[in-house]
Amino acid sequence: MLHVRQVSKIYEGKMSYLALTDINLTIDDGDFVGIMGPSGSGKTTLLNLIATIDEPTTGDISFHGKTTSKLDKNELAIFRRRELGFVFQDFNLLHTLTVEENIVLPLTLDGNKVSEMKKKVKAIAEKLGITEIMNKRMYEISGGQAQRAAIARAMIHSPKLLLADEPTGNLDSKAAKDVMELLEKINREQKATMMLVTHDAVAASYCNRVVFIKDGRFYTEIHRGDNRQTFFQKIIDTLSLLGGYHHDVSPVRIP
Ligand SMILES: Nc1ncnc2c1ncn2[C@@H]1O[C@H](COP(=O)(O)OP(=O)(O)OP(=O)(O)O)[C@@H](O)[C@H]1O
Ligand SMILES: [Mg+2]
Repeated sequence: MLHVRQVSKIYEGKMSYLALTDINLTIDDGDFVGIMGPSGSGKTTLLNLIATIDEPTTGDISFHGKTTSKLDKNELAIFRRRELGFVFQDFNLLHTLTVEENIVLPLTLDGNKVSEMKKKVKAIAEKLGITEIMNKRMYEISGGQAQRAAIARAMIHSPKLLLADEPTGNLDSKAAKDVMELLEKINREQKATMMLVTHDAVAASYCNRVVFIKDGRFYTEIHRGDNRQTFFQKIIDTLSLLGGYHHDVSPVRIP
């Protein structure tokens, strides 16, 4: 269980900025939750707090009963290395390494056997369709390929909690669909808890539940139920109520 309790975040600086206010969320193990909201509404901030990249100003976050801000150095290292996978909005891949080196990095840091790592990386590359680019360096590949490499790196160690910030933002609709189907499959098979920030209603429709935030506050949430088409339509309707979106959100059938 992931518990976000009364979390607020103020970025201190010349001008303090209240990015999140009184966020409460309870996410069961194995749930697949989408986070949507206009640009600047606090989505990345929320993910960063859950990922222990940053700390809430007030309130607390716990994962499996442990308050993350109270973990000691050792526990925090284990949480980040073994339990957490993070797909960053800007990928955060190391430029001079190859795709393969980037992907196995979490395993390398955790002292895994080379033969084991090779096996895992091969399987995941196949799933993501990036086998041919594994020996290329990051500056030699496209944005969409880098995005898939970032997803592979976040999943290579089978994390219990996978956080993804716009994992389909640089992909065309076919590649985005492949990635969402893969995430859905991982969620089902590995029972990983997943949180996904997205602007894309089609991507969000793969989640079990979508939480909307506006101006740093909880706005509403909707659940998928049995029918993805109906859910997709509800997401579109909620986005138009939410405002701040300039995309074309006319009702269309999902591919
Ligand atoms: N390090 C920081 N210092 C000060 N303000 C920040 C910082 N990071 C984010 N903010 C502000 O906090 C608000 C929320 O930012 P955040 O990155 O969480 O938005 P977002 O919902 O992820 O937006 P986007 O959809 O554009 O990625 C924004 O107004 C942003 O300018
Ligand atoms: Mg963001």
